[in-house]
Amino acid sequence: MSRFHFPAWSDRVLRGLVISGPLIAGYVLAVGAYGTAPATVNVGYEPDQPVPFSHKLHVGTLKMDCRYCHSSVDQAAHASVPATQTCVNCHSATNPDGTAAYSAIHTNSDKLLPVRKSQATGESVDWVRIHDLPDYVYFNHSAHVNKGVSCVSCHGRVDRMEVVQQAKPLTMSWCLDCHRNPDPHLRPKEFITQMDWVASEPPEIIGKRLRERYDINPSTNCSTCHR
Ligand code: HEC
Ligand code: HEC
Ligand code: HEC
Ligand code: HEC
Ligand code: HEC
Repeated sequence: MSRFHFPAWSDRVLRGLVISGPLIAGYVLAVGAYGTAPATVNVGYEPDQPVPFSHKLHVGTLKMDCRYCHSSVDQAAHASVPATQTCVNCHSATNPDGTAAYSAIHTNSDKLLPVRKSQATGESVDWVRIHDLPDYVYFNHSAHVNKGVSCVSCHGRVDRMEVVQQAKPLTMSWCLDCHRNPDPHLRPKEFITQMDWVASEPPEIIGKRLRERYDINPSTNCSTCHR
């Protein structure tokens, strides 16, 4: 909190400052944020990836759970992008011990060349990062998903995306809107990765109940997200 020189200004005040022309240069220099900010607020950002990996196919059609590939999402701050071995489980002709693989899917596909190269060299695939908060913001996946906030609230319908794109602005006011009123975004923890889950009651009502059950009280203190 002390790293910012102004007191408890509201986000609206901060935003107002941003639009108020002449102040902006010094302000931006002071915060040093704008080098990374464009991608942060870029809804729809959808860079080319080295492999045309489709969530629509692997999640929507094949019904794979997010955690098969993003295995640290409910245990750590970062969700992690899968290691090559995760793809190789299905897309290699051979097992690590050299025997013929049972599920050898599309083992000669050109699209999977970078995966085979990575397997051979041990160097990871150069996935391009899509969501990227500025370094001065602290975010934690497990703190959200273990309290019943689904991936869909922050990433949209990934199961329908041929190419992942940023669905939400990731701005401070976006974070704060939910921290002030999380109820409509809560669901039983066992459904956090189920993209098409719908509440059987109005979301606010079930949300209120879950909020009590999971003892949820999101903080709006600056130091929660700026440490
Ligand atoms: C078979 C493995 C696999 C599964 C299952 C999977 N993903 Fe992914 N995910 C990837 C790979 C590989 C990337 C990096 C390439 C890309 O962006 O498409 C990725 C990227 C992402 C990104 C963007 C990361 C960034 O750079 O900002 C999000 C968000 C994401 N996945 C969410 C999900 C969600 C939500 C689910 C479940 C509904 C899911 N994924 C299931 C493999 C998977
Ligand atoms: C559980 C098994 C499984 C895993 C793990 C898996 N895939 Fe797949 N993948 C499939 C299946 C099944 C298909 C589609 C087969 C079909 O219907 O054509 C496929 C298709 C593909 C294709 C299209 C290939 C082509 O030539 O059309 C790409 C690219 C691909 N996967 C990339 C990946 C990447 C990258 C990973 C790791 C992040 C991964 N897959 C992990 C099962 C898997
Ligand atoms: C409360 C909002 C929120 C929820 C819920 C959420 N994410 Fe994220 N996700 C983010 C933000 C914000 C980032 C960017 C983090 C950064 O730049 O440090 C991100 C980044 C990612 C990334 C890129 C790697 C990383 O950790 O930076 C992946 C992959 C991902 N999310 C997958 C998922 C999956 C899968 C789920 C559900 C199991 C999920 N997310 C739930 C907000 C969320
Ligand atoms: C859709 C709702 C939602 C969004 C969007 C959201 N959060 Fe949260 N956040 C929550 C909930 C619910 C909790 C759990 C609060 C609790 O456990 O009492 C939480 C907890 C946290 C925590 C953990 C606090 C602690 O005490 O350890 C951090 C850090 C955090 N959020 C940061 C962020 C940031 C940064 C963003 C935006 C990039 C964000 N959140 C966006 C709902 C949300
Ligand atoms: C729930 C998380 C969260 C809380 C709480 C929070 N911030 Fe932020 N803040 C963010 C995120 C995310 C960004 C980066 C995205 C953006 O620029 O909006 C950010 C950006 C900023 C910036 C950079 C300027 C800008 O708007 O681009 C300043 C300054 C700032 N916060 C100050 C504060 C102060 C002061 C407080 C306490 C009153 C506070 N923040 C509370 C998440 C939070």
